[in-house]
Amino acid sequence: MKKTIVIGVTGGIAAFKACQLVSDLVKLNFDVHVIMSKHALEFVGPLTFETLSNHKVHIDMFDRNFQHDVTHISLAKKADVFCIVPATANTIGKLACGIADDMLTTTFMATTAVKIICPAMNTNMYTNSIVQENIERLKQHGVRMVEPESGLLACKDVGVGKLASIEEIKEMILDSLTEKTLKGYRVLITAGATLESIDPIRYITNHSSGKMGYSLARMAKRMGADVTLVAGNVALPRISGITTIFVKSALEMFEAVKKHYKNQNMIIKAAAVSDYTVKTYQSHKIKKSDDELTLALKRTDDILSFLGKHKDKKTILCGFAMESEHVIDYAQKKLVSKHCDLIVANNVTEANAGFQHDTNIATIVTKDQVESLGLMSKLDLANYILLKMKEMG
Ligand code: CTP
Repeated sequence: MKKTIVIGVTGGIAAFKACQLVSDLVKLNFDVHVIMSKHALEFVGPLTFETLSNHKVHIDMFDRNFQHDVTHISLAKKADVFCIVPATANTIGKLACGIADDMLTTTFMATTAVKIICPAMNTNMYTNSIVQENIERLKQHGVRMVEPESGLLACKDVGVGKLASIEEIKEMILDSLTEKTLKGYRVLITAGATLESIDPIRYITNHSSGKMGYSLARMAKRMGADVTLVAGNVALPRISGITTIFVKSALEMFEAVKKHYKNQNMIIKAAAVSDYTVKTYQSHKIKKSDDELTLALKRTDDILSFLGKHKDKKTILCGFAMESEHVIDYAQKKLVSKHCDLIVANNVTEANAGFQHDTNIATIVTKDQVESLGLMSKLDLANYILLKMKEMG
């Protein structure tokens, strides 16, 4: 069944950003309802939210033009999450004092859903000790907050008070809707391509975007795990709430993994590690001369094999295999040779799978099972892999 998210919009200039949030949440297949304060109407028209959410926007407690049920109670009961974007100092103050004088504050007060506030206001207002006390009070009562960012504000002041990014707010909503099945678990994940420098200008790398590893890290965090991510050469937004160690070369990744592999419940090596690096790094740019140039390469350490041999007994180890032929056969061989508990294999030649895509087609190979999964988002696959590993632990 679709989850219901109620977005409360109060009267600040950042109200226009709530339109994008509603649109994104509808695309993620949530049932989204919007309640606006009267002041919010000065900034955005309800028609925008009605068109995006496909539902009437609620503003007035005493609106006669509604279905028979008492709207603030029915929405309060229906909601899985109630998120106020943006939350003004005025609304925060009212909620902290238990004042319910409009549809938004009444519904917020009446709901048992997860409650989130996303403050946005002038810096001096935000840092005002009364506002801070009110925020603290709401937090003590179980209300979650997406911290505002620092930057240039609409009032031209520079400082804290800018609405958090829509991505951060979405992540908080999705996080709060995810069952904490990995609470108490420690998970180490590697992601992305490694980068082997040849000279100060050139390097050897591969097409890995890091999306699979990042999806695993994001999902493990949403499931409540304590996540350490060792990220190679990736261009992806940082995931808040996890420890990320940025590395470039295979050697740096190996060093980072050696520092963190002990005392983990799960280790997932989703990174595409270079099997070779240059024999000698040239400290000055290699100038062209002849028609041909031969680079002498040497093997890198196999991090997964190291983990297979040295990991704690209780740690469930997952490797990845990116192949272009004999996928299952090669994955089964890697499972044994690298002492893994499971290998997630995918075929680089399949459409919408592997490098760069947001989707994947994987086969999970364990000692006694070969499980071929269909096309799915990398986040859904991450969820599947993590639950599988929990089951094996
Ligand atoms: N891997 C690793 N260290 C390396 C190379 C690979 O930890 N130096 C890990 C990858 O993170 C992945 C798995 O090994 O989890 C599979 O990597 P892949 O390069 O596909 O396999 P190889 O063992 O290198 O085998 P081959 O080159 O024969 O395909």
